[in-house]
Amino acid sequence: MLQLVYISSATARETQGLDQILATSRRNNARDRVTGLLFADGVRFLQALEGEAAAVEAAFERIREDPRHRAVVVLSRREIATREFGPWDMAARTADADGDAFVAQVERLVAGASPAVRGTFAGLATVRRAA
Ligand SMILES: Cc1cc2nc3c(=O)[nH]c(=O)nc-3n(C[C@H](O)[C@H](O)[C@H](O)COP(=O)(O)O)c2cc1C
Repeated sequence: MLQLVYISSATARETQGLDQILATSRRNNARDRVTGLLFADGVRFLQALEGEAAAVEAAFERIREDPRHRAVVVLSRREIATREFGPWDMAARTADADGDAFVAQVERLVAGASPAVRGTFAGLATVRRAA
């Protein structure tokens, strides 16, 4: 199985766009048995995708061409024996969300991930809280 983690910058800040991304992602990922986590704070996206290598690569090919974000940078790409994120889920922070609650939510979602991946997600959530 392949786990791919990337970070990117959002090109639009409206949350309506996020709803559409989520609806499409849930549908496609269920079909392709891709799971993982999407972190969105209105500025950046951080996403982990897990599944059969071909399915993850195909999803990522579509995602990286998506004009709703830019500067897509792969942070890690590695073989995993079992899924580290469990079912596909999503941590989103709205403008008025409580920063501490958001950090706690992200930490819960990444609890099963490797230390490096966990640190990446937790670090970004904490930075955004401070910003
Ligand atoms: C930040 C971000 C994350 C996305 N995550 C996924 C995803 O996990 N799975 C997926 O199929 N599409 C995802 N998309 C949407 C894809 O870029 C693309 O629009 C979609 O896969 C096209 O699916 P369709 O041909 O069924 O309309 C994401 C887009 C963005 C901007």
